[in-house]
Amino acid sequence: MRILFTGGSGKAGRHAVEYLVKQGHRVLNVDQVVLDHPDVNTRLADITDAGQMFDVMGSYANYDELEPGTGVPSFDAVVHFAAIPRLLMTSDNECYRVNTLGTYNVIDAAIKFGVKKIIFASSETTYGICFADGERKPEYLPIDEDHPVVPEDSYAMSKVANEVTARSFQRRSGVDIYGLRINNVIEPHEYEKNFPAYLANPDVRRRNIFAYIDARDLGQMVDRCLATDGLGFEIFNVSNDEHSVGETTDELINRYYQDVPVSPMGPTETFYSNKKAKTLLGYAPQHNWRMYVDDKAKQ
Ligand SMILES: NC(=O)c1ccc[n+]([C@@H]2O[C@H](COP(=O)([O-])OP(=O)(O)OC[C@H]3O[C@@H](n4cnc5c(N)ncnc54)[C@H](O)[C@@H]3O)[C@@H](O)[C@H]2O)c1
Repeated sequence: MRILFTGGSGKAGRHAVEYLVKQGHRVLNVDQVVLDHPDVNTRLADITDAGQMFDVMGSYANYDELEPGTGVPSFDAVVHFAAIPRLLMTSDNECYRVNTLGTYNVIDAAIKFGVKKIIFASSETTYGICFADGERKPEYLPIDEDHPVVPEDSYAMSKVANEVTARSFQRRSGVDIYGLRINNVIEPHEYEKNFPAYLANPDVRRRNIFAYIDARDLGQMVDRCLATDGLGFEIFNVSNDEHSVGETTDELINRYYQDVPVSPMGPTETFYSNKKAKTLLGYAPQHNWRMYVDDKAKQ
């Protein structure tokens, strides 16, 4: 497929772009920073500027597309990752402005250019636990896509607003728009760097509900969304099958969630349910932390 990808220079985006290129997709990156990739051109553009988003939707992916002499090809899909990716980076209102206006502009331009598949990055933070003031517990476990989304911070609020925006665009257009409530993204080099601390003290993962997602598996998730047509508007949790800590599910429940209703779960099953993605998309995460963390850190 020919794909316009926003935010492809970022932490999550560059791995997802790499995965998509490896599957044979043609990708144009739209970002404010150039992605260093031999097969992917970057158009420098600002998602908060509607004019620039309309321009890039009608863009060549690179010089080679000038050769046929048949004009600019259409994009088959738009993957929208560009954002202020958490709180405490910009002012709260700037984070909300960039993320909501940017998402409106990207989806609006995509639909008006006839793009039939749009995938956008939402977040685990929508569930209100990650960036709560103090400890907020889930209403039930495992958390699935029906769990209430009432966050307190402007970043997560922007993601909830984006889901509402996307749903409305889908209703009018009838195209497929899939939102990904991505859990904490782990890059390949971060297993060795970060996981010893997670295994030593699971408290540090409480705000992520002990879950995570490998950046390459996130790429697979995007690819599964590209391959699966006709779902209309859908929201998907994106996570690994297991927790990011050494404790079993029962141990974590005893320590953190004694007063939370829990459905039957496997011994190391993630509290951040990915069942919907597995069932509707055939998503199957491949990269578990146990493959990359040495035995000393596991003890
Ligand atoms: N990293 C995580 O753990 C995580 C978890 C859940 C959701 N997400 C979401 O996934 C997406 C990617 O996150 P990330 O961690 O890669 O963030 P990142 O900051 O590393 O990447 C975001 C990219 O967007 C670009 N960008 C920012 N503002 C822009 C603008 N106005 N116009 C054009 N480009 C702009 C940045 O230059 C950057 O390359 C975001 O939507 C984020 O909210 C990330």
